[in-house]
Amino acid sequence: MKPLHKVIINKNTSLNPIWIMRQAGRYLPEFREVRKENPDFINLCLNDDLSTKITLQPLKRFDLDAAIIFSDILMLPYGLGQKVEFEKNFGPRLGKLNLNEIEKINEIDFVERIQRVYKAIKNVSSDPSLKNKNTIGFVGAPWTILVYMINQQSPKKNLKNDFFKDEFSINRILLIIEKFLKIHIKNQIDNGADVIQIFDSWAGLLEEKDLPNYIYTPTLNLVDYVKSLNVPVICFPREIKNYKEFCNVVKPDAVSIDYNVDPKKILRDIKIPIQGGLDPKILLTDKETLKKEASKYLDIFKDHPYIFNLGHGVLPETDLNMFDYLIKTVKNY
Ligand code: CP3
Repeated sequence: MKPLHKVIINKNTSLNPIWIMRQAGRYLPEFREVRKENPDFINLCLNDDLSTKITLQPLKRFDLDAAIIFSDILMLPYGLGQKVEFEKNFGPRLGKLNLNEIEKINEIDFVERIQRVYKAIKNVSSDPSLKNKNTIGFVGAPWTILVYMINQQSPKKNLKNDFFKDEFSINRILLIIEKFLKIHIKNQIDNGADVIQIFDSWAGLLEEKDLPNYIYTPTLNLVDYVKSLNVPVICFPREIKNYKEFCNVVKPDAVSIDYNVDPKKILRDIKIPIQGGLDPKILLTDKETLKKEASKYLDIFKDHPYIFNLGHGVLPETDLNMFDYLIKTVKNY
């Protein structure tokens, strides 16, 4: 059995496997090298040879327990025909959303547009170095995808005032997103993804009264769908107001926590396996602090099924020696 499965399915409490969000990314010189030659981020995600190579880069250097496929949650709007670009020092910039146009997209068009993401997953999952490691596929949660499609860029702290103005269209778009997320998940699993993570990066923007419609119902539908395919699903509802209620309602197989979550409180509140939590900024301090902070999570979760990870993606300015030290600290615990 692969490491993440031992924790999520068998509820192993002593293994503490580790992978890191954004482990294939800008803190790695070999990533920056490839990136420099490939200024168009979407084209890079659609180049299966290069995205395979990038996905495997961190595993060549570090003793990680899983590969997460180098792609992006915004491949979904891209597959639906919405323009998606990544601008240096700005982030994603999307074209205007045209509901009439995306309503015309069918499954075949969608899969054809992002086919090479699945090819990369196939390459990665069949690579000999992945024999005893997990291959993680992922999607953005319906709510987070909706935010990007309507807001056309990262929302920072707030949504536009008129975000919820056209409720009818919003609910139409949510249904389309949900339908294609299922297709995207199925294709990732068919090509070798053996864990699915659902990133809800903007869950924290919603008030509690809006959680059922925009988060609980659509995410529960996805979670049930992944479970029906017999693959474990991890949810990361970043900065959601109530992790406990989220887990009770949505029932993922595991939950990933952000760095504002109190690990002792979550341990009391939640029975399912837990992942992550450590603040990525701790990697910018010194080894002593890093060891102390990482050990805090390992100590608190020592009798609970726990997957080590950060509370958000690793920062681009992270020193490779600190990254390496973190992994060794967890492995030698
Ligand atoms: O974790 C991994 O190593 C796998 C690959 C991965 C990427 N994006 C590659 C990427 C994953 C899982 C994502 C998820 C993703 N993408 C999320 C959810 C997690 C989170 O960060 O909250 C979100 C919100 C996005 C959308 C996105 N993609 C943004 C806002 C940005 C720009 C901001 C930034 O950090 O640069 C991206 C670009 C992106 N996606 C990069 C990488 C490695 C950096 C690209 C670059 O400029 O080289």
